[in-house]
Parts: sequence; structure tokens; C-alpha cells
Amino acid sequence: MKFDIKDPGLAEAGRLRIEWAGRSMPVLKQIKERFAAEKPLQGVTLGACLHVTTETANLCEVLALGGAQVELCASNPLSTQDDVAASLVEHYGVSVYAIKGEDTETYYQHLNAVLDAAPNITMDDGADLVSIIHSERKDLIEGIIGGTEETTTGVIRLRAMAGDGVLAYPIVAVNDAMTKHLFDNRYGTGQSTIDGMIRATNRLLSGSYFVVCGYGWCGRGVAMRAAGLGAKVIVTEVDPLRALEAVMDGYQVMTIAEAAPIGDFFCTVTGDIGVIRQEHFLAMKDGAIVANSGHFNVELDLEGLDEVTEASREIRPFVQEHTMNNGKSVYVLGEGRLINLAAAEGHPSSVMDMSFANQALCAAYMKANAAELEKQVYTVPADIDAEVARLKLEALGVDIDVLTPEQEEYLNSWTMGT
Ligand code: ADE
Repeated sequence: MKFDIKDPGLAEAGRLRIEWAGRSMPVLKQIKERFAAEKPLQGVTLGACLHVTTETANLCEVLALGGAQVELCASNPLSTQDDVAASLVEHYGVSVYAIKGEDTETYYQHLNAVLDAAPNITMDDGADLVSIIHSERKDLIEGIIGGTEETTTGVIRLRAMAGDGVLAYPIVAVNDAMTKHLFDNRYGTGQSTIDGMIRATNRLLSGSYFVVCGYGWCGRGVAMRAAGLGAKVIVTEVDPLRALEAVMDGYQVMTIAEAAPIGDFFCTVTGDIGVIRQEHFLAMKDGAIVANSGHFNVELDLEGLDEVTEASREIRPFVQEHTMNNGKSVYVLGEGRLINLAAAEGHPSSVMDMSFANQALCAAYMKANAAELEKQVYTVPADIDAEVARLKLEALGVDIDVLTPEQEEYLNSWTMGT
């Protein structure tokens, strides 16, 4: 078996953490039993480019038990948990190519190592595998049934590819499942982003000004949790509806130019480029702390910051001090990479349980329906989404009401009871 990881000696520590995460993933556990019995992925080589975490390890186990040969690389150079990578190789038979802190060249070598296995299904978090396949590895397209995509940023790219008529195989947008983005993006990103910022800085949020750039599902989660810790939350947006929602949710809404001199903490979660730019860094207070929790670090104009930086040093792990030519210092966390995975451990397991249940079921769906699927981006089939919600409620021990026949009739009638 081929692999490239930091240290096989970390495997035992990784195994314990993987098991710990698995305890909070009851939906995936049910799917694991089903997959082990039914082998819906028999004969499939599955190339996954995901954050190499304890939760991803639990997903890989399910996919492998379902019959797939799993090849895994990281979807971000800083998000790999090296002990998990080691355990996946040692205990779960997964070929892993991922080392925390790998440079850009190694990152792409690892993506290509996964592609060298000629996957039939791709599983992306940010569309990196799809992008390389469509540019440099077109020869692989013939053998590919389809792919899945985990994150908003990736889905935006894939829809653009489909719109331009260049998407060469079907994709299921796992991100768009209700049981994914309503929970993972909101509660997962909310908690883990604040966790990463606090682990990196050990600063008190209470009483501070916390600027959240972007009020999508991730931004809503970050704002909610920062407010819960006592911060005065400011939201910046470009979308009038979302901005209005943030106002009605009780936050101050203003432009980034207005927010820059006020904020103590900044966090971008927009999925777009150049959200905090040079002029905003220059306008910040001395000591401002800046992080990104969107998929790519392009949300922060780090080149623009470098141009006005006179001195730079790592003042503590994941905290880079930039002393600018106006005498003020700003602190960039985790090189502007997803702070929840760079400085913390990503979303907690119980929320990844639903995201990865969708991933597993969608991979099986892809295999079962390969002949009918076209070169489009599909949303997750409604019955898969509903099944994941049902299983999660069951695991949580939560019962819900059932419509009475009279209620059912009322909902289907336009004359009754008015
Ligand atoms: N994305 C965000 N959090 C994650 C986690 N814990 N595992 C895998 N992918 C993630």
C-alpha cells in the first residue's frame, strides 16, 4: 500500500481519537453496519480530498467497509491531523497522502498521488480533485462515475463549470443537503471557528468588537457564537437580504471600511476573494486579530498586507504579528487558512456525523445510479436528506409528532377550515 504521512509511530494515538470521535457519530455508525452487510461500493476506487481529521477517518472506515478502495489526500495544507493519517494507514487500510504544514508543491503531489490510483468516484472538499482532473488529468475522466462535493466554495465552482458546459461527470452537491449546511455550516463552523481563534490567541471575547464578514450559514454561526461569548458583533455583507437578516438578528451591519477601525477580532466567511484588503489592515486598531474561516485564504489580501509590513514574526503558534509602516501591528491567525482546522480540530464529530452520512449515502447513490446521471450538479436526493435527519433524531432519542389524518387532509385542501 502506498502512502505519504508524517510519522507512522503516531498511529496508536490517532486510533484512540478516531474512536472517540466515532462515539458521537451514531448515524454514520448505522450506515457502517448497512455498508458492511451490503457492500454498495464494491469494486470502486474512491479518491477523497478531505480534511484529514478523526471524523474523516470514520467516514473512510465506512467507505472501505462498503467495499471501496479509499485513497485520501488533504483538502488544505494545514488541516491534517498527522496521528489520524498514521492510524488510517496502519489500522484502516487507507492510502493517505497528507502531512500537516506541507508546502504547495507537496500538497499538489499528494492530490496527484490520489489521482494516480485512477478513482471511479471523487469526493472533494473545495473541488481540487475535480479541478485537476479537468485541467491536467483529463485521461482519468473516462473511468469516473461521478463525484461529491462537501463545501459551499466547491459547489459554486462546480455550478460555474456546469454552466459553462465543461463539467465532464456528474456531481452531487452534498453541501446543499439540508442536513449538511443547516447544521455543519452553522453550528459546526460557529463553534469550531471561535474554538480556533481562542486556542490560537487565548484572548477574551467578552466585551470586544467581533467583526464577521459574510452572513451565510457559516457567518450566522460565527456571529451567534461570538455574541454568546459576550462580544459586540458587527456584520459586513454584500447581499441586501442577508444584511437585513443580520440587522433583524440584532447585529450592527456596516461596510468593512467602517468596521476596520472598530474591530478587535475579524473573521471572514464569505467564500470570496479580497474581503479584507490592504487599506482595511492599515485602518485597523493596533493589536487587531484577523482570521479566515472560509475555504481559501484568498479572503484576506495577505500580499497587500505584506507590502505594508515592515516586520513580521510568529509571536505564538498560529499567530503572525505584522508590524505595518504606520507603526500599528495586526495579528493574522493560521496564515489566513481555515482557522477552525488550522488551530483547532474542525467541526465537532456530532455535526460531521450528518455531513459524512450524506457523503457515504451519496457515494452509494452515485454507484447505483451511474447509468442515469448526467454531467450536472445534482442536489442530494430528498429521501437521503430525510433519512439522515430521521436517523439523527432517532440517535438523539427525540420523538416527533405524526400528522393526524385530519391534519393531512387540511394541508392538502384549499377549502377546509377557512
Ligand atoms: N470540515 C470542517 N470540520 C471538519 C472535520 N472535523 N472533519 C472533516 N472536515 C471538516
